[in-house]
Amino acid sequence: MNKIVPIEKLEVGMEVVALDKSWLETNILFHRFRVQSREEIQKLRDNGIRMVTVRLPDPTPTSPPVPRSEEFTASSEGPTFREMETLPLPSLKEWNALHDKTVAVVSKSFEDVRMGNALEVEPLRRQVVETLDMLLRDPRKNSFLVTLSEVDDESYVHSTNTMILAMGLADQSGVPKEELPKWGLAGLLHDIGKALIPLEILKKPGKLEPNEWETMKRHPKLGHSILSKSKDDVVRGLCTSVAMEHHERKGGGGYPFGLDLPDIDPVSRSLMVLDIYEALTAGRIYRPPLSPAKTLSYLLERELHKLDPRAIAHLVQMVGIYPVGSFVLLADGRVAMVTSYKDPETHSGPVNLLAIFAKPGVPLPDPVPLTLTAIDRSRVKQTYHPRELNISPSDIARYLEMAGVDATNH
Ligand SMILES: [Fe+2]
Repeated sequence: MNKIVPIEKLEVGMEVVALDKSWLETNILFHRFRVQSREEIQKLRDNGIRMVTVRLPDPTPTSPPVPRSEEFTASSEGPTFREMETLPLPSLKEWNALHDKTVAVVSKSFEDVRMGNALEVEPLRRQVVETLDMLLRDPRKNSFLVTLSEVDDESYVHSTNTMILAMGLADQSGVPKEELPKWGLAGLLHDIGKALIPLEILKKPGKLEPNEWETMKRHPKLGHSILSKSKDDVVRGLCTSVAMEHHERKGGGGYPFGLDLPDIDPVSRSLMVLDIYEALTAGRIYRPPLSPAKTLSYLLERELHKLDPRAIAHLVQMVGIYPVGSFVLLADGRVAMVTSYKDPETHSGPVNLLAIFAKPGVPLPDPVPLTLTAIDRSRVKQTYHPRELNISPSDIARYLEMAGVDATNH
């Protein structure tokens, strides 16, 4: 049972499950933890927290007596600031549910703006916070897996995925944890200007005519005008800059102003890399998706001179060349899905796979688990995006379960 109590009633040992201020209004990273010390309570006060929601122990007859607050100790069971990473790993099912909900919230925001209504930031922020909570609980860094979607609404999926990737990239590149939600919100809102682009252009299933392309290129300035009216400081500041700058390019070759990298916000510099990466790996109605390996090669070989190389390097480190959920053609002709790495942080060392096809297009009667001491170009002849092989996200969840990877059930 949860109870809202004033901060004055909060004591060491109590389990906090929510605060009365949102993530972006405080410097408090975790909003669910067991209080370890008086200093933690003071930090909440310093951040303007007045009310907290605490979880009370279940008053069942078989439960031990509820300890007085003095009896709560640091060794009590439950998450703390330092122990958050030991919480159960989020399942792929949880990730998919959160992803779908976020796509729906983004869709509603675009619709509001399209109808001339004010942008409501709070629902978007809630999705950012929930996503960050999941990301920080998940050391597997399955960035590719968690952006796969069965939802067919590419603009909103793109914004959702860019948000997930932005917070992952920021974390990878050492940005303080407290800043991550801002990156997430900027990712979610970078294309909001598209809400004011005519739908027949936005959803055209093919190449745009030159005049349509000129209209489409107005979305950074439209985004700026929508977001700069917000009462929210982060939206009016960082998000507005990112919406305006994410199509600029190194050397001044982008739009709308032809700015060079030094004049562009570092968040925008990363977002422009993620924007391309997401568009290529997700595919479009008129263009099939590319595997992460092919997309990263494309960025390094064709786009490096237009982008921030550090952002590309962090992206490669974060996603990995052969992330979990991607498919590889092995030297023996079998096609296998990567299921886990011994070291998920670096995607290096021994790697587990599940061979699904005897050769491309010919499924094996039963998938076969494999382990390689390492995975690299000498062992992989080709890479595939799952969709190129007609593999859906639910198929992937099933394969992971088959491989014994703890990603589907908790
Ligand atoms: Fe854009």
